Amino acid sequence: MTILVTGGAGYIGSHTVLQLLMGGDKVVVVDNLDNSSETAIKRVQELAGERGKNLTFHKIDLRDKPALEKLFASQKFNAVIHFAGLKAVGESVQKPLMYYDNNLVGTIVLLEVMAAHGCKNLVFSSSATVYGWPKKVPCTEEFPIGATNPYGRTKLFIEEMCRDLYQSDKTWKIILLRYFNPVGAHQSGYIGEDPRGIPNNLMPFVQQVAVGRRNALTVFGSDYGTKDGTGVRDYIHVVDLADGHLAALAKLSDPSVGCEVYNLGTGKGTSVLEMVSAFEKASGKKIPLVMAARRPGDAETVYAETDKAERELKWKAKYGVDEMCRDQWNWASKNPYGYEAPTK
Ligand code: UD1
Repeated sequence: MTILVTGGAGYIGSHTVLQLLMGGDKVVVVDNLDNSSETAIKRVQELAGERGKNLTFHKIDLRDKPALEKLFASQKFNAVIHFAGLKAVGESVQKPLMYYDNNLVGTIVLLEVMAAHGCKNLVFSSSATVYGWPKKVPCTEEFPIGATNPYGRTKLFIEEMCRDLYQSDKTWKIILLRYFNPVGAHQSGYIGEDPRGIPNNLMPFVQQVAVGRRNALTVFGSDYGTKDGTGVRDYIHVVDLADGHLAALAKLSDPSVGCEVYNLGTGKGTSVLEMVSAFEKASGKKIPLVMAARRPGDAETVYAETDKAERELKWKAKYGVDEMCRDQWNWASKNPYGYEAPTK
């Protein structure tokens, strides 16, 4: 198959592209490199060996309709995996229009061009953020959904857009994947997460403390009603998550699929302190902590019900937090400054 991957140079995208190549697919990546590096593409190509020749890259912004049209006119895609989008919650509160423009307009243009070229198979990156602060856990796909910030609303709106699109034209096949908390890196330590600026998410921050780029981790809230007072999340190894996309693609060829939603998580909840301690064990580094107030908008405990994905996608996460931390540290210690070498 030939798969178009938007945002394929990013963290989850690059790991998914590698798994697709290793599975024998041809992959075309479009990415505007806004929060990603072309080095990731080069490294994926190297890791894929012989199969690296099946990967091509185009620096395209999805809102550039003529460029996207040209690409779709030049070759046929069996399906699209749509990762591209902005994802920093705090930034989305400061710059809502930038988020709506990038995430919503980008997606609308993509869907229009796909429809015009008869490619109606889509896998979309949604997020567990749509569960907000769930009334109970684990979160099932039937839970009510909502959003508390512009970033979350873009995920919510795109999900709704996809459901409407399918209702209007039943020849679409769409799988919405709600990711829980992706962490870790490819076992080679050659690709991994490389956020620009100060990391918003827990593990990239921990990683930067471990390599000496930051002094201490600020723990946002130690007064939650959890086992140790810190927030509990469902961390999932990025390679497991990438494999979930291959399972979703396979599912698209099932005639019964219309527009479906699946959680991709492990079903296990881990606290901030447990995660830090697992990382300390894996890295042999001490992570100094500063206890602080809760981060606005954060939920107490969020983890997935994984039954639906296991049953219908025949997919289940393989790795636990020790392996996630091992691989995160392997990547961090080999690439303390991510894809770019520090300027001396
Ligand atoms: C966050 C986003 C979510 C997004 C997801 C993408 C918020 C409110 N939510 O989820 O919308 O889909 O990332 O991966 O930003 N923590 C610290 N110190 C830190 C960073 C995090 O204590 O420096 C804690 C948080 O309070 C939380 C846990 O670590 O309990 C995980 O945080 P994070 O990695 O940011 O993920 P989420 O908040 O689950």
